[in-house]
Amino acid sequence: MKTFGRRGLLKRTAAPTAPLLLARRSQADTEAKIEVLVDEGIGTISPDIYGHFTEHIGGVVYDGVWVGEDSAVPNYGGIRKELVDHMKRLKPSVVRWPGGCFADSYNWRDGIGPRGKRPKRANFWMYSDFLRTADAEKQLYEPNHFGTHEFIHFCRLIGAEPYLAANVRSQSPQDFNEWVDYCNAPAGKTSLAETREANGSRDPFNVRFWGVGNESWGCGGGFSPREYAAEFIRFISWVPSFGERLSLIPAGPNGGIPGGSLDWTREFFERLVERDPGMLNRVYGWALHYYCGTAGEAIDFSESDWYTLLTQADGMEDLLLNHWAIMGEYDKHHRVKFVVDEWGAWHRPGSEVDPTHLFGQTSTMRDGLIAGLTLDIFNRHADKVAMANVAQLINNLHSLFLAHEDQFIATPNFHVFEMYSAHYNGESVRTVFDAPEIQTDPDDKQRKLWGLAGSASVHGKELVLTVVNPSVDEARETEIVVHGATILSGSARTLAEDDIHAHNSFEEPEAVTPTDSLLEVRKGKLVHVFPPASVARLRLDLA
Ligand code: AHR
Repeated sequence: MKTFGRRGLLKRTAAPTAPLLLARRSQADTEAKIEVLVDEGIGTISPDIYGHFTEHIGGVVYDGVWVGEDSAVPNYGGIRKELVDHMKRLKPSVVRWPGGCFADSYNWRDGIGPRGKRPKRANFWMYSDFLRTADAEKQLYEPNHFGTHEFIHFCRLIGAEPYLAANVRSQSPQDFNEWVDYCNAPAGKTSLAETREANGSRDPFNVRFWGVGNESWGCGGGFSPREYAAEFIRFISWVPSFGERLSLIPAGPNGGIPGGSLDWTREFFERLVERDPGMLNRVYGWALHYYCGTAGEAIDFSESDWYTLLTQADGMEDLLLNHWAIMGEYDKHHRVKFVVDEWGAWHRPGSEVDPTHLFGQTSTMRDGLIAGLTLDIFNRHADKVAMANVAQLINNLHSLFLAHEDQFIATPNFHVFEMYSAHYNGESVRTVFDAPEIQTDPDDKQRKLWGLAGSASVHGKELVLTVVNPSVDEARETEIVVHGATILSGSARTLAEDDIHAHNSFEEPEAVTPTDSLLEVRKGKLVHVFPPASVARLRLDLA
């Protein structure tokens, strides 16, 4: 996995382009220090950064989200009740659907009308190499029982906005326009609005977020960046809005390949601006994908694998900075932000809870730390990241939940998302982390990872600070200093287990859960110990 220099900085700062300014640790008795500069705002942390993604693949939709109205599994109109109840705890803001690669094979018309009459199709993943390694039988055919109405129902149940991905590879701009019409036309005003009403929804769905294709360099059509830019322009020209300000999202680069696919960004923006610089106003966000891969196996990995994967995940930060710099060459005022609409670890098969769950994997503490450090990166770049969607919500890559038939569990990723939801709508502020670096490979002194990293946000008189300690065996006693305010009191929630492989299972659903504690603040001074291999969230009351 490629990294982009900048590794080995002793101090991690929430504003990486600003000069490092702070003094060395003042306390001889603490080995680490976190300094929060509450007056140095970076940007508001959008709850959309904590978004989700559900694709028609393996066990995500069928078995995960959708169990059917007649199922013995408790459900709300066919949607798994336990999933909805857990999602409500996160107050999620946005969910992407129906893909992923599936989106560029999907005909939205297949998923409307009486469920029993909907066509059965070959699923996109039917012939993929990936399926050769899985028990494919149940995944081959798409029954279309979960379509636009069911997805919108799911979003309404959990209080999230829908983000639909349109098919660019195998459909036309006309099909796209008509899906927008079906979703957003006022009641009774178009024939498609009448069809929607006949299908049970008189009121428009008012869908704002629309992806225009997915991974158009690969499964989404194999376009060159310039070809894709031309398709994007064709798709968004004159799309009916019906009064809704559509947020249109072009398919961005594959951050997982060496170099991070910078050419895709350069050539797309070049072509767009060449056509008309005003086109930048039509782009809501640039959809970067980054899977940090794996090291070892999902559950069975060495300490060295642990550090390797955390380091790979940390590559997200340089990826954002590198693409941001290129975007700035064409979009000087940075109108276009990032929509990182797929991210997470991608382990080899073998830990899925059911063989029909293509890409299903069990998330351990390692994945929990990846979730924490990635969300911290997004928070630190709140001025650049408008939305992000972890891949994928349930029974898939970096999932928050695993479910099969009537069994359901939350993974460490869920707990991290719940802890980090305290950042929603806060002002991200510059924070400097100073902790001994970790030498991640005993034979290679050059391979190092930061000792502590995280992010902070201000919410009136409350400061939320999230911190990842990647060391497998060292706790970090840390002095926490807030410049520009005084700490009065505080509490901590910590996700930490003795075993770095710890994970939840149907047999032990609560093996990994966070613990709460009160912080001891003495005369405005706070020293906190971050346990090894942990993710922590501190809430501090300020004066
Ligand atoms: O999330 C699984 C797949 O990974 C998605 O369908 C695709 O967009 C990506 O390559």
